Order: sequence, then structure tokens, then C-alpha cells
Amino acid sequence: MSEAVLERQGHLALVTLNRPERRNALSKALLLRLGEIGRQLAQDPDVRAVVLTGAGDRAFCAGADLKERSQMSDDEIRAQLSLYQSELGWLSAPHFPTIAALNGAALGGGLELALMCDLRVAVREAELGLPETRLAIIPGAGGTQRLVRVVGEARAKELILLGRRLTADEALQLGLVHRVVAKQKQLLSKTLEFIQPILEGAPIAQRAALRAIAAASDQPLDAGLAIERECYEACLTSADRKEALAAFVEKRKPVFSGK
Ligand code: COA
Repeated sequence: MSEAVLERQGHLALVTLNRPERRNALSKALLLRLGEIGRQLAQDPDVRAVVLTGAGDRAFCAGADLKERSQMSDDEIRAQLSLYQSELGWLSAPHFPTIAALNGAALGGGLELALMCDLRVAVREAELGLPETRLAIIPGAGGTQRLVRVVGEARAKELILLGRRLTADEALQLGLVHRVVAKQKQLLSKTLEFIQPILEGAPIAQRAALRAIAAASDQPLDAGLAIERECYEACLTSADRKEALAAFVEKRKPVFSGK
């Protein structure tokens, strides 16, 4: 059985981390499989959203595979850190919105994986944290950078220096997750309900919005405003923009083609 499973439901791609016996920990094989899936999806113009979840009801992802790592040399660990960027970077790229559906614990690299996604939904029992400093390392898959962008420096310092684990409700309060789902078996249906506007939305506008929003953290204001203008241009010339206006005038729901 594959380390991660890809399923398609219309415009949605569902990716499931599939190592429940190791709490979906990120082994080298799992990282490479995720990279393969990402490259496949990035080339598919029909994909309008990707939901990433984990098999089982204990963990979304328990972070680095600590058993595998205990056998690795320093150089092998350096190579593994590079894989986080090369194999998982597609989750943060503006190909399509990505959503982490946290079916359980998201710790260390598991939370960093969720932070690479654009949106996060969690079951109430999920615990979230970056415990790396307790293991004498630091987050190595972008956690020090992305957590600060999501919850601010003060909260990020608290979570990283204390290695504190948050409940899903605490994470919701901090804005670290967008929705909490009470029942495990409803996680996927509630997540799909939450992202329905994306699935029914105009893909060119979704991509343009992701690019423009990324510029807000990466660029000074003037440069960000120029990028916003450039991104608007991609929407302006799209058939979907005309369809949206026609649907408004005709008092019907728009049907977007992605063109
Ligand atoms: N790497 C490798 N194996 C892991 C793992 C990891 N990060 N996390 C859990 N496992 C393995 C356990 O060693 C155990 O294997 P065993 O049955 O051979 O002993 C199995 O998964 C089940 O773990 P267990 O702790 O009993 O599961 P749980 O459902 O009670 O708890 C977690 C799940 C994720 C909360 C808990 O496993 C945990 O805290 N893991 C460590 C998280 C962590 O510190 N990650 C690293 C951050 S840098």
C-alpha cells in the first residue's frame, strides 16, 4: 500500500497520508510520494482544491519519522530537510487552494505540513504543537517562518520555546485553524462544506488571490500593490469574469470553466 493515497472527486483532489501505524510520520518515502503527487496535481488544470488528511483517527501527522531519523547520519538529515522544500513546496504554491483536514495530532513536521496549506480544519481531539526544541532541534520544515506569519511572533515564541501542545479549540482561538469539527466521522464532509465556495469558484481568481496574498507577507506595500494589480489583470481577461457578470444580470448561479 502506498505511503500516501491520491483520490479524485471531480475538481477536488484528496490526499491521505497513509502510515497510521507510525501516526503518519514523515519518512523519506512519504516525502517522495507527496512530491510525486504534487507534481502530478500541479499539471492538472481540472484540480481546483486539494484536501490533505491522515489515515486513522489518532494523528494527522506526528512529524519527522523519529525511528527512521535515529538511524540517519547528519548528512542524511540535511538531505531530508531539503526534501521538505522540494517535495512539499507545492502545497504553498499558488496552483490551487490547499486545505489540511486534521484528523488527529499535528505535531512538529505534521503541524508544519498543515501550515504549508492555505486553510486548516481540525477535529476537536486534535492536538497541535511544535515540540522540536524539546528534542534539541528547531522546526525544520518552515515552522519558524510560517507560524509567525499565522499567529504572530509572541505566540510563535511561546509555542516553539515551550514546545506546548494546543487543543483544537485553543488553535481556533489563535487563528491557527479555521474550523473545529466535533465528530471525527464528519471531518471530511464538514471540510468539503467549508470549502464549497472554492470548489464552485473561479480558479483563475483563486490562483490570483493566492499570489497576491502571498505578496502581502513577502513584499513591501508598494511592490505588493503592483503584484495585486498584475494578478487582477489575469482575472480581467478571463471568460469566467464575463460569466460572473452575465450570471448576475440573469439572476442565476455562475458556472465557471476555469478559462
Ligand atoms: N516517528 C516515528 N514513529 C512514531 C512517531 C514519530 N514521530 N510518533 C509516533 N510513532 C509511533 C510510536 O513509536 C508507536 O510505535 P510502536 O507501536 O512501534 O511503539 C506508534 O507510532 C503509536 O504511537 P503512540 O504514541 O502509541 O500513539 P498515540 O495515538 O497514543 O499518540 C501521538 C499519537 C502523535 C500524539 C504520539 O505518538 C506522539 O506524541 N508522537 C511524537 C510526536 C513528536 O514529538 N514528533 C516529532 C516532532 S519533531
